[in-house]
Amino acid sequence: MAKNFSYPIFCVFPLLLLFLLSTTASRSHSIREATVQDLQLAFEQKRLTSRQLVKFYLNEIRKLNPYLRGVIEVNPDALYQADKADRERKAKVPGSLVGLHGIPILLKDNIATKDKMNTTAGSYALLGSIVPRDAGVVAKLRRAGAIILGKASLSEWAHWRSSKAPSGWCGRSGYGVNPYNFSADPCGSSSGSAISTAANMVAVSLGTETDGSILCPSFGNSIVGIKPTVGLTSRAGVIPITPRQDTVGPMCRTVADAAYVLDAIAGLDYSDKATIEASKYIPRGGYKQFLKLDGLKGKRLGILRSQFAFNGEPALAKTYEHHFKTLRQQGAVLIDNLEVEHQDVLSSNYETIATNAEFKLALNSYLNQLVKSPVRSLKDVIAFNNRNPDLEKVKEYGQDLLLEAEATNGIGEKERKALLNLEKYSKDGYEKLIRNNKLDALVAPLISHYIAYNGYPGINVPAGYDKDGVPFGINFAGLKGSEPTLIEIAYSFEQATKVRRPPF
Ligand SMILES: *[C@@H]1O[C@H](CO)[C@@H](O)[C@H](O)[C@H]1NC(C)=O
Ligand SMILES: *[C@@H]1O[C@H](CO)[C@@H](O)[C@H](O)[C@H]1NC(C)=O
Repeated sequence: MAKNFSYPIFCVFPLLLLFLLSTTASRSHSIREATVQDLQLAFEQKRLTSRQLVKFYLNEIRKLNPYLRGVIEVNPDALYQADKADRERKAKVPGSLVGLHGIPILLKDNIATKDKMNTTAGSYALLGSIVPRDAGVVAKLRRAGAIILGKASLSEWAHWRSSKAPSGWCGRSGYGVNPYNFSADPCGSSSGSAISTAANMVAVSLGTETDGSILCPSFGNSIVGIKPTVGLTSRAGVIPITPRQDTVGPMCRTVADAAYVLDAIAGLDYSDKATIEASKYIPRGGYKQFLKLDGLKGKRLGILRSQFAFNGEPALAKTYEHHFKTLRQQGAVLIDNLEVEHQDVLSSNYETIATNAEFKLALNSYLNQLVKSPVRSLKDVIAFNNRNPDLEKVKEYGQDLLLEAEATNGIGEKERKALLNLEKYSKDGYEKLIRNNKLDALVAPLISHYIAYNGYPGINVPAGYDKDGVPFGINFAGLKGSEPTLIEIAYSFEQATKVRRPPF
């Protein structure tokens, strides 16, 4: 009897456990890798609430972040915001089933939020500072109904503190880790945004780019990143490097998600004058309409051939050749063996010369408008680091870039010459190549340096994984305001290849 009785129990219990595990696993499985559209549909069909979604991500952060360190702070009000979104959806408030309503987003820690969170660019020097208002893009996100889940870690000061510090390191949260291979470079400076999005610790995220800071971590963590035309998204309330190059953009798992986020954040903000000029680029009806399966049809793509010379890694070269074939099959015309003129500028130090002086001016003006702050100038930041060598690893990494910037004195003869050369490269090199060949986009594995100096846009799409499991991507870049075309190309390529897979 005992035997008969115990047998079914013995049998049912593991079955029940398996069932429970599989149902929780299937919910988390359906959330893992879910797109904004998937999530909106689940909200609409009442299969998911924003509270459940935020709890899922908070739990993933609790589990994974101690290893990955992609998140620097979690918003104590995230669940409150989720409940508000759920109530609005239930009451069918207009706009509660569109845009980013009820979708959790992570912000790079140089993007100001006027809430319980700190905005510090990863540095203890800014801990406890109080910002006057939300950054322009954050105000737009809140209007679009997004839930601010937290702040992402980054290469400290967007990697304009030390040339010795590794990508992904900041004083406040230490070393960010590439989830695909813990010993690989996560790249930066928007490292935490990429790590966290790739590892499904959040739905979507924002990064900032001055020269490669969105495209490179997107490339290295198998996500889609858009570096928008400078001025398309407001930089007001963003801890700056240089207004000439800085831009805020989406870092997401899919091109569609990136288009949704761009729709939410692009547009006029009188606190950033550059948005007035750039708002002419924003298409009526937004960016979603360019998510076209046949988006590659008839597109003229220029191949920057020298960038695809992977002499030591024939497998990589082969993968890109395969992608070229796919681009052609999808209807694109490839113009091969192109080179940009005045390439010497790329390896010159003109960018550093100009940026050092601009950084000092822009950072001092950011620090000045804070309501409260332990530091009010670049000079104060340097002094703070010297007073806190252990917190900020000053002995290991120093602060050479801050010191060089502090030594500048506005835009003088040297800076003007540097700026002229950067412009010459951009207009007579990059732009001329695109116009003369009537290109829709240039293609390179990583194109960020080419498009940095004069505010051009670019997009990264996952392209493969190397022998160590480390992701790599492919970049498409065009003229100012070419985001619609870039989204068409990227979406069509993404749908034809579907390279992205989660790290675990
Ligand atoms: C912001 O920093 C303060 C320390 O100054 C800390 O007590 C607080 O927890 C931080 N906020 C969040 C949301 O982590
Ligand atoms: C991670 O990369 C290292 C090389 O940096 C390699 O030795 C190792 O096998 C890789 N790990 C995995 C899991 O592929």
